[in-house]
Amino acid sequence: MSDNTPVKLPYIDQVLADLPEVDLELRKVLSRHIHWGYWENPAVAAYTLESLAMAHEQLSQQVADSGQVQSGQRVLDCGCGFGGTIANLNDRLHDMDLVGLNIDPRQLEVARANFEAQHGNRAEFVEGDACALPFDDNSFDRVLALECIFHFPSRQRFFQEVKRVLRPGGTLSLCDFVPSTFMLVLDKVLKSIIQSKIGANYGAVDYSYSIHKYRDLARETGFLPLVERDITANTLPTYPVTARVFNQNGLTYHSQDSAIVPDRLSRLGLIRYMILAYHHIQ
Ligand SMILES: C[S@@+](CC[C@H](N)C(=O)[O-])C[C@H]1O[C@@H](n2cnc3c(N)ncnc32)[C@H](O)[C@@H]1O
Repeated sequence: MSDNTPVKLPYIDQVLADLPEVDLELRKVLSRHIHWGYWENPAVAAYTLESLAMAHEQLSQQVADSGQVQSGQRVLDCGCGFGGTIANLNDRLHDMDLVGLNIDPRQLEVARANFEAQHGNRAEFVEGDACALPFDDNSFDRVLALECIFHFPSRQRFFQEVKRVLRPGGTLSLCDFVPSTFMLVLDKVLKSIIQSKIGANYGAVDYSYSIHKYRDLARETGFLPLVERDITANTLPTYPVTARVFNQNGLTYHSQDSAIVPDRLSRLGLIRYMILAYHHIQ
């Protein structure tokens, strides 16, 4: 990214720098998804690359299923990273018209290089800002946003844009770190410490949207809540499994210092990992 790039995301820079250095199996996993994992039975999560890869796929599927994504639809994945969720849909469904949108052209390059159409699906990867979607009104059946909304310049503008591009009856499905009321109080005191720890690796992150704020936002922008699901427990192996896999592969888990913050906040119940899905209402 050039210095003019509107978002600075050091963790993405680090992944891109690591990719050429790691062996093929790890590269396949790191260049597909950039999100936490979902373990159906977290108590028995294996500390292996296969377990991490499977958990990444599971999270993509859980979010897509919550938004009722099905074969034959036109689906937009906002903040698509390396296109892992598009690849997951391509593997499982047929006759899909898939569009991945990202603000970072480097990630889109990886996504395009990785994508191999199957089952009559097609995909394109488009550069753009999720808060100014470069698409026509009423042009998608489903919109997804996995673990990226906290980077967007405005959740309100994003919801308004999604409302515009969705066909009536469409859905928006996303996953986000949702703070508890106590976390919001704590943040008033500890904001600079938490922000500097997180910001050093993750760039600008807005974790101020409680479930109540999300409900208000949905009402104001013309959506009806469809799913509000707390999957924190299913995601908790992410940090220890990722750290172990990195160490096993001779890598320093670059984000360890930073990644431990959301891990600990989740374990303490201060932030909840939630899948939120909304129905577009007329
Ligand atoms: C944690 S990554 C998640 C990537 C992908 N959704 C996944 O789950 O693998 C966050 C993503 O949001 C993208 N992003 C950040 N701000 C954005 C914006 N304003 N518009 C579009 N994408 C954005 C980043 O480039 C990055 O790919």
